[in-house]
Amino acid sequence: MNIPLALTYDDVLIVPRRSTFSSRDEATTKTRLSRHISLNIPIISANMDSVTGSEMAIAMARLGGIGILHRFNSIEENVEEVKRVKRAQNLIVSDPYTIDPSKTVSEAKEFANKTGVSGLLVSNGDRKLRGILSRRDFLFATDTNQKVENIMTPREKLIVGNAFTTFEEAKKIFADYKVEKLPLVDEENHIVGLITSDDLKHLINYPLSNRDSEGRLIVGACVGVHGDYLERAQELVKAGVDILVIDIAHGHSDLMFDAIVKLREAVPNIDLIAGNIATANAAQELCEAGVDAIKVGVGPGSICITRIVTGCGMPQLTAIIEASIVAKKYGVPVIADGGIKKSGDIVKALGAGADTVMLGSMLAGTEESPGVIMNKDDKKFKISRGSASFTQANDRRKISQEKKKNMSDIVPEGIESIVPFKGDVKSIINQMVGGLKSGMSYTNSHTIAELQKNVEFVRISGFGLVESGVHDVTAIT
Ligand code: XMP
Repeated sequence: MNIPLALTYDDVLIVPRRSTFSSRDEATTKTRLSRHISLNIPIISANMDSVTGSEMAIAMARLGGIGILHRFNSIEENVEEVKRVKRAQNLIVSDPYTIDPSKTVSEAKEFANKTGVSGLLVSNGDRKLRGILSRRDFLFATDTNQKVENIMTPREKLIVGNAFTTFEEAKKIFADYKVEKLPLVDEENHIVGLITSDDLKHLINYPLSNRDSEGRLIVGACVGVHGDYLERAQELVKAGVDILVIDIAHGHSDLMFDAIVKLREAVPNIDLIAGNIATANAAQELCEAGVDAIKVGVGPGSICITRIVTGCGMPQLTAIIEASIVAKKYGVPVIADGGIKKSGDIVKALGAGADTVMLGSMLAGTEESPGVIMNKDDKKFKISRGSASFTQANDRRKISQEKKKNMSDIVPEGIESIVPFKGDVKSIINQMVGGLKSGMSYTNSHTIAELQKNVEFVRISGFGLVESGVHDVTAIT
């Protein structure tokens, strides 16, 4: 048997080239997520329940990447998460939430928490503006059984705009009147939109944010290939999701091809990412099946034990190289999913042919990842767990279709772990993007396409790997 050698990130280094850069900021990180969607930075947060909920997805899209919401919840919860992202940042909120004036403050509070908005327009069934219940009204209401109409700011005291109000005008109103929300109404006082000062701030503070044609942050979600996946896909699309990932452990399978056909029929106008796969053959067949991006990685993830349990997989650098050579011929972008431990791995993954990378555990310990912060020996941690871990499988049983599953039949292909708490995701992404841009400057690459052209890998020995890390000193920072 002729057994070829396959490599991963730590097996190689990129050879530096003469550079014309005077600053790494000359590099641009714009890339393609799929056939029809671009990103300003090539980073995606993984669809794991310890990594991406709406909070992470909002942060990722603001920073120039995207989050793929996990699917380990009910369809209703999943849809609610998409809506939260879509409402987090707008140019104009075209259909703002409203509360009836006869509701109590505690009912309004509950509604605001559920929808994730800080203040509510007040209106009864006719969509006419009656007032605003602001963040302050909630905060300082002493009697939560009072009616909304008794504590709201009434219509006659409100500054309002109309459908033609510009952002410059809105900015001036926010500055002059110290208000946070500007309702837009027509001549008959019907609500036609809302501009918030937070949205304007975000536009200024996050110049790289990825937004849809209505100015809302973009977000992805994923589906499987069993049970209610078609209904889930349809509901997610209705809620405004921008892209769907068909995510199964072995994406080069009949189940996947069957799902692609059915999803194309059920949700025809949305980009589909399919994965995970690890070979040229699989990439070719998925491209032929018409998917809009492919996700590469069988077993490289930090919490994966697929290779140990099944003996199957492919070292990630080789998998990316082989899949992307084929995918490029079809114009289909490649996502390198799993195994990224540091920014240098991102440079290697993109240099090897990927268009984007997906990060799991690197983002699991951040403020924005779902789950609580734990304290152990005066240090803070969060959970990072595999989607095929035992505890995840146990939780999945709570979702109806898997209720009858016998736990002793489960063969986990992932583990549950703790990762150090790392603060906000922005600081991690800044480090990753800074490292990527530096890597691009070492190879004189102003774009990711140039990086892929300029990259020259060398294989290194175990000694080379030791030399690459911190060695023979005790690091203090
Ligand atoms: P990192 O290394 O970034 O990897 O934490 C994240 C990716 O790991 C995959 N994943 C799994 N793979 N068993 C596996 O074999 C699992 O339980 C599991 N959970 C997640 C997934 O592709 C993710 O994006």
